[in-house]
Amino acid sequence: ERGEYRHYMQKEIFEQPRAVADTLEGRIGPHGVLPNIFGIDADPILDKTRGIHIVACGTSYHAGMVAKYWIEELARIPVVVEVASEYRYRDVVVPENTLFVAVSQSGETADTLAAMRESRRRGYLATFAICNVPESSVVRESDLRLMTRAGPEIGVASTKAFTTQLAAFALLALDLGRRRGLDGARYLDHCKELQSLPRYIENALKSEPEVLKIADHFINKQHALFLGRGAQYPVALEGSLKLKEISYIHAEAYPAGELKHGPLALVDENMPIVAVAPNGPLLDKLKSNLQEVRARGGELIVFADERAEMDTETAHVATVRVDGGGDLIAPAVFTVPMQLLAYHVAVQRGTDVDQPRNLAKSVTVE
Ligand code: F6R
Repeated sequence: ERGEYRHYMQKEIFEQPRAVADTLEGRIGPHGVLPNIFGIDADPILDKTRGIHIVACGTSYHAGMVAKYWIEELARIPVVVEVASEYRYRDVVVPENTLFVAVSQSGETADTLAAMRESRRRGYLATFAICNVPESSVVRESDLRLMTRAGPEIGVASTKAFTTQLAAFALLALDLGRRRGLDGARYLDHCKELQSLPRYIENALKSEPEVLKIADHFINKQHALFLGRGAQYPVALEGSLKLKEISYIHAEAYPAGELKHGPLALVDENMPIVAVAPNGPLLDKLKSNLQEVRARGGELIVFADERAEMDTETAHVATVRVDGGGDLIAPAVFTVPMQLLAYHVAVQRGTDVDQPRNLAKSVTVE
């Protein structure tokens, strides 16, 4: 089953170009997102949508966080993202015409399912599921749905489920954008960009040998800090979650601008810092955040866009160059080297990569 790969996780990381291509297949064309991909009842609901609440756990929650940046920017619809175990017990305010979105690889996560059932009593326009398992409870109980087509995910640490969720969310964000007055040329550019995502992921996988060398660096570390800005902040969160769960190294993620508000105090030569540096308007801000880290002796590992101007001085340990594509798809592309980093650190530390201690693939208890 694992074929040439040492672990399911590695196999699933490398399956991502195919998984994302399958998820986009028959759903987007040269003229944009195809009609009825969210179900035949979707049109009137999506036309009416004026707010979105996204609810999920773990990695799926991080996908929702990226989606918030996309949907708010492209469709100008306010989005709230919340972990299911909080959402379900809270007295949430639901403005008129708000869509409830549940995100789940398995479709059986107890808190996500319970949150979705609770949402029925809270007056939403409809419930929408992004899910990888067609016969799951989350799918059966939703009004609208967009299936990810990652195929079975066996490694406990979620990888291809995440990037396919991002692909599904990008389709939703673009479709909502078109309905809410997104400029036609910009819409088509982003659609083309989304279609190129499998190619960019394929290319990002080529960073593996470089990432493998960097992984050495973490073997004897106890902590790590991940930094990102904008839609790359959830990617930093996802990178830190992957490292925690499979290598058992304590990792945290911060939006880079928050560094000086506390976590900078942790930075010394024993604290590797991983930064995601895509090209774009926030690059200069990020670079100055990284200077602050360097000045304190922190070991910096930077995943930088090929076009981002980074002097070799910026990174202490290494700069890995990744072609992120456009700013829409870049979060999905930069996720790949984060996954590879966590994977190789875990392998070198000798942990049980596919079955990390204390964790279950599908959390069907509360
Ligand atoms: C992390 C991981 C978990 C799941 C979470 C939600 O690698 O796998 O955090 O993402 O348990 O699971 P689903 O998406 O099945 O609801």
